[in-house]
Amino acid sequence: MFIFIFLILLLQDDLQVSMQKGKKIYETNCVTCHSSNGEGVPSIFPPLAKSDYLMSNPTRAIKQLHFGLSGKIVVNGKGYNGTMPASGLTPQQITDVMNYITNSWGNKNKEVIKLKDVKKILGK
Ligand code: HEC
Repeated sequence: MFIFIFLILLLQDDLQVSMQKGKKIYETNCVTCHSSNGEGVPSIFPPLAKSDYLMSNPTRAIKQLHFGLSGKIVVNGKGYNGTMPASGLTPQQITDVMNYITNSWGNKNKEVIKLKDVKKILGK
């Protein structure tokens, strides 16, 4: 039982540290398009806040941050057809920014995203 509680505390700590780093990465690399409150810009830049597209498939978002994204997508029932350039972020930075965006503005990720998973997803 105590070990269990200890593990939960440890995991939360990991998440807090990763999110703090992720917030800085977000403010430098993402905020111009997706805005500081994660709402994006209507019809142009999709929202990350309460995004069904993001939260239903974080693995897909990890690839999109690495490789970039273009073409039609639907986020919360609204269509977008723009281009997001490849972020140029390292796997560690992608891990941290993903932990930030999937746990901010009302989003809650059941799992803490780990560097080793991101590396595996990106084939690194
Ligand atoms: C130059 C503007 C721009 C920047 C900078 C940018 N994005 Fe995007 N992002 C877009 C556009 C445009 C789309 C939708 C692309 C499409 O329509 O196919 C998108 C889509 C997304 C999506 C999937 C759709 C959704 O809303 O859930 C996620 C997640 C995302 N961006 C996260 C990020 C993160 C994190 C960063 C910073 C590392 C970032 N973006 C930087 C423009 C940008």
